Amino acid sequence: MPFHVLGIESSCDETSAAILRFEPGGKRELLSDVTARQEEVHLRWGGVVPELASRRHLESLLPVVKAALHQAGLSYQQLSAVAVTNRPGLIGSLMIGVNAARTLAFTLKIPLIPINHLEAHLAAVLLEGAEIQFPCLGLIISGGHTSLYEVQEGWKDFRPLGHTRDDAAGEAFDKGARLLGLPYPGGPQVAKLAAEGNPAAISFPRALPAWNETDFSFSGLKTSLATYLQRPSPAPVADICASYQEAIVDALVAKTVNAAKRGSYRDLVVAGGVAANQRLREKLRAALPAAMRLHIPAPAFCTDNGAMIAALGSVRLEQGEGIEPEGIFAVEVAPATEARAARGKH
Ligand code: KG4
Ligand code: ZN
Repeated sequence: MPFHVLGIESSCDETSAAILRFEPGGKRELLSDVTARQEEVHLRWGGVVPELASRRHLESLLPVVKAALHQAGLSYQQLSAVAVTNRPGLIGSLMIGVNAARTLAFTLKIPLIPINHLEAHLAAVLLEGAEIQFPCLGLIISGGHTSLYEVQEGWKDFRPLGHTRDDAAGEAFDKGARLLGLPYPGGPQVAKLAAEGNPAAISFPRALPAWNETDFSFSGLKTSLATYLQRPSPAPVADICASYQEAIVDALVAKTVNAAKRGSYRDLVVAGGVAANQRLREKLRAALPAAMRLHIPAPAFCTDNGAMIAALGSVRLEQGEGIEPEGIFAVEVAPATEARAARGKH
């Protein structure tokens, strides 16, 4: 009999629920994926306001779960497990999803599976049936994180290889967009304008500190843009966007290729909102060693979604990881702390 895992995501500003059907060891089939976005709530503030985000999650969550069930043609009673993001993220937002998931699992007497949001971003490639050879290389590039990992068998152990020292890649896009007067979230806006511009128009810095081959740094780039914009006659905005995007993409590609060359990986998985960037996809493919396979989820599964939570949930369920609903809490883990804790293990 197939299993049906409900995945719930509420760590930042997307309320999302999805249902995945799978046979143990067999094919995964996404039956539904429903997301309520909150962009209009945060637009006027230029970034996500945590308290407003949790209030909106509270309103959206149950309708989104019901819509996911409806789209899948299933009833609550047909669910086999609930997987939910419980770290890292905005603590108030995480709590809304976790409490809903606990209540559902408790009421339905089914296992509850706590999911690390970052690990789920990479596991999103399972939705497209990717066959990954472990250990693989993972690059997570979102609004809050920019990290390289070596991922061990079974999506179990994520060994940190490099992190951003300051801003995340998505943050660099968002902050740059803000300086240019473009609305939040800035990544898609910059990317759209960049498509019409000349990436070589302005030479923005590529932060590649010689002392570290796999860490990233983007805050200098943002300052460089702020300084550039003080010029009396800056280049057309499309050229600025294309050049700014190029600097972010080049830094991401260079560090990832360095990490790839240090190990012997067959597969690279790239995920998180910035992985939706077309220019990055092209340049990464061109720069990787020819033998390496590049896996990037479809753009809709790069940004936050419940499907990736259900996908990793299905793996954890196969691994026998379901727990009692009372045993899970929302925990916010600062990326640096998480990385240090993980490093300590190796
Ligand atoms: O993974 P995600 O949806 O949320 C977080 O967990 O942070 O990533 C959101 C980030 C934002 O910074 C957004 O500007 C960026 O991903 N982003 C993009 C693109 N689409 C979304 N950045 C560059 N190019 C894109 N096409
Ligand atoms: Zn994310």
